Amino acid sequence: MKLNIAVLPGDGIGPEIMNQAVAVTQAICNKFGHELSYKTGIVGACAIDQTGDPYPAETHQLCMESDAVLFGAIGSPKYDNDPNAKVRPEQGLLRMRKQLGLYANIRPVTTFPSLIHKSPLRSELVEDADFMCIRELTGGLYFGKPQGRSEDGNTAYDTCIYTREEIERILHLAYKFAGQRKKKVTVVDKANVLATSRLWRQIAQEIAPQYPDIQTDYLFVDNAAMRIIQWPKSFDVLVTENLFGDILTDEASVITGSLGLLPSASIGLHTSLFEPIHGSYPQAAGKDIANPLAMILSAALMFEYGFNLMEEGALIREAVNASLEAGVVTEDIAEGGKAYKLSEVGAWIVNYINNK
Ligand code: IPM
Ligand code: MN
Repeated sequence: MKLNIAVLPGDGIGPEIMNQAVAVTQAICNKFGHELSYKTGIVGACAIDQTGDPYPAETHQLCMESDAVLFGAIGSPKYDNDPNAKVRPEQGLLRMRKQLGLYANIRPVTTFPSLIHKSPLRSELVEDADFMCIRELTGGLYFGKPQGRSEDGNTAYDTCIYTREEIERILHLAYKFAGQRKKKVTVVDKANVLATSRLWRQIAQEIAPQYPDIQTDYLFVDNAAMRIIQWPKSFDVLVTENLFGDILTDEASVITGSLGLLPSASIGLHTSLFEPIHGSYPQAAGKDIANPLAMILSAALMFEYGFNLMEEGALIREAVNASLEAGVVTEDIAEGGKAYKLSEVGAWIVNYINNK
């Protein structure tokens, strides 16, 4: 197979972790006989610095012409600390999502046995937890118009809008994933208060009977927030709107104890995008110390969801697990043992794949 990939390293530690993900992708392609061709584009603060635009037209075109996008991280303290900054790296991310039609963000929440003791929850609650959050990514409060301030500046407003089409497509996606997993969908909303949530629930109730072998549960978002930490093993596929999903996926990501290891996939109308869930970690940029595993596991998701190449993805996971078990880990998880450099961890994983 020929893989045409857009590589968007972004800001902070993005370029360093991306180097390793590309090396791992190359090693997998060599092993399985795929042809890899990739082109690099700019996005985020580095794109603002070079062009004034956090998501330049050339980058968008590159993404549209590619079969998949590997994305590092964006964000820079330079913009975070300037409330008057007119353009921000995050705007690039939101535009990228909208322009690429990336309407679903998928975050698998899986545990790594060697890291369970790092969970803020008791081990027995998280051991073997394995669920997936599907967050609607291009609608709701993030994009609803009008958004702004009154003339005197003392009143502000955001608008939450959802259409039937937006809700239906993400719910069908949730059922599709649940069908390949533990056959349970949990629809999370605030239907006791919000009109958009009532539409979500109405449509979910229409769609559920089309999937008779899948169980459908409904939870209000406040209750879901509680259940995620009380009983994470009760979930299989959780599906929700944009802002609820933003909040719940951060909550869900820490319970495994391995925030630095979790990847995500954003899929939709055009090219799919794969990125780690962590940010650009500017304090570590250029120091060769950050953890590259979430980025490398994002490449695994790219093989699986982007190209339907399951064995390739599985070998990356196997290599990552082996590195954890061998204690070849960066300082964030080294715990008294030897801390390896970011590039050493990447090289170890590439080597594992080559020798397999
Ligand atoms: C995320 C991030 C973004 C979001 C920010 C950076 C705009 O928190 O990907 O979850 O809120 O969607
Ligand atoms: Mn977020």
